[in-house]
Amino acid sequence: MTANIIDGKLMAQELREQLAQKVAHLPTAPHLAVILVGNDEASIIYDRNKKKAAEAIGMKCTIHHLDENTTQEELLRLIQQLNADSSVNGIIVQMPLPRHLNSELMIESINHAKDVDGFGIYNIGLLHSNDSSAMVAATPQAVLYMLQQSLGDITGKHAVIIGRSNIVGRPLASLLLNHHCTVTIAHSKTVNLSKIAASADILVSACGVAKMVKGEWVKPGATVIDVGINRIDGKLCGDVDFDEAKEVAAYITPVPGGVGPMTVTMLLNNTLRAYIEQNSSLKK
Ligand code: GUN
Repeated sequence: MTANIIDGKLMAQELREQLAQKVAHLPTAPHLAVILVGNDEASIIYDRNKKKAAEAIGMKCTIHHLDENTTQEELLRLIQQLNADSSVNGIIVQMPLPRHLNSELMIESINHAKDVDGFGIYNIGLLHSNDSSAMVAATPQAVLYMLQQSLGDITGKHAVIIGRSNIVGRPLASLLLNHHCTVTIAHSKTVNLSKIAASADILVSACGVAKMVKGEWVKPGATVIDVGINRIDGKLCGDVDFDEAKEVAAYITPVPGGVGPMTVTMLLNNTLRAYIEQNSSLKK
């Protein structure tokens, strides 16, 4: 058996067309503000892609690129200024920040109505309470969307998530629990990881170890979602040994072209939602 490939690039393109149509009917363009501190190469590329994707669907995106030596006070002042600016609907602070800046403090300083990353405690609390008004982080939303597009209803499925980060593993566990999956979170200290992985109907890897998930870790007919972005000899690869796993799984995401393109799309979707909620007369 060879798995069906879940084409994240195509899914993202279709969703972005739908978003563009919605944006075209709004009186003004939703506005995403991105704060980038320093010169982390990957962050510069990610933020350039966010701006390009936002503008392609008719949204506004402003990148506030600050010097590596920006002080905590300067960064807080900018966040407060953007919080107070009614023309800004969404604010994200690109991670990682330089070490002298307190990431948690910056995240908590963003008005929760503009927290389109969904990283703040307020939105995390709503998600963990199964409150549909939560602004949910982009990557977990991307994973859920891809699962629903491939499988339809995921009620009762056993989902194993490898990784317990605040950005992916933990919020994804809540999101899948809210959608009636049975959820196991595994991590670097988990005993018998390969056996637990092999019990999954849905296996999501977000641990950042290149090609760690082998074919025998995958239950025949399972769905495998690879959130990892790693490099071997300069070449991009995921956490999953794709060539092995695709011979066992029923559905699988590639890297690149899987979860990555969907994540930016979900950030734009959150920005549109924030805009609509802040302009409540536009609500249906
Ligand atoms: N760094 C890596 N991924 C992300 C993300 O989704 N949001 C932000 N703000 N920083 C990141």
